[in-house]
Amino acid sequence: HERINTAEIQTRLEKVVQDGNNDNPDTPLFPADEITEFIDMMQVYEGAMYEISTKLEVLDSEFHVHFAHDPIHHMERRLKSVNSILGKLKRRELPMRTKSIRDNMFDVAGIRVICNYRDDVYSVANFLSSQSDIQVLRVKDYIKNPKQNGYRSLHVIYAVPVFLSTGEHYTPVEVQFRTIAMDYWASLEHALRYKSDLPDTRLNEHSQTLLDCARSLQNIETQMQNIHRDINGAPQQEEA
Ligand code: GTP
Ligand code: MG
Repeated sequence: HERINTAEIQTRLEKVVQDGNNDNPDTPLFPADEITEFIDMMQVYEGAMYEISTKLEVLDSEFHVHFAHDPIHHMERRLKSVNSILGKLKRRELPMRTKSIRDNMFDVAGIRVICNYRDDVYSVANFLSSQSDIQVLRVKDYIKNPKQNGYRSLHVIYAVPVFLSTGEHYTPVEVQFRTIAMDYWASLEHALRYKSDLPDTRLNEHSQTLLDCARSLQNIETQMQNIHRDINGAPQQEEA
């Protein structure tokens, strides 16, 4: 496990404080006396992220042992960078304070769980959600209700208790559950949206093609899911 780099966070925050606020030179972009609090907060988010990943690893290995099936293909996790945290506060016109991060931001700690099949997405998510020590704060099911652009994934925000010397701190972690096919699609759509300077006409063309791809992938996934169910003796429920 690679630990959180507190020195880097400190350097970035100090730079932000020094450079000040372009829009409003009288107020700093971030208060200098909250740097330590910010670093402490990030350490708690890191702890919460590790706790949820461990729970997911335990579930995956239980499935492996009992059912000879690994529901999780792989996982990715990240802590939001200082720049994206402050950028998001600014965009949402929230005060540049650690308190407003704690109260308003639920994706500082993020985990992406990439599963083999759609059934795995729901079983892993449901087993995690039913654990007695964690709370489900929010669910967005973009698999049942895909976004207009074709994006599919199940987003759950959990709150998990992190035990520190000062007691327990319930801390949010955003988990995105998706299949390999959904991840394949989302990566390309993300690249198109954030990394491309193509002219609008080409962007629109690609977006339309991506929407078609999303539908095709959904069909392929359903057909493969049905074969997998048949092999494993589960009833076939879905129409391709
Ligand atoms: P923001 O985090 O501010 O976007 O708001 P939110 O948390 O209400 O949004 P939501 O739960 O819908 O999405 C959170 C995350 O899901 C994003 O940061 C992305 O990682 C991912 N996501 C959502 N929509 C899309 C999409 O259309 N395409 C791709 N590639 N990823 C998406
Ligand atoms: Mg988000």
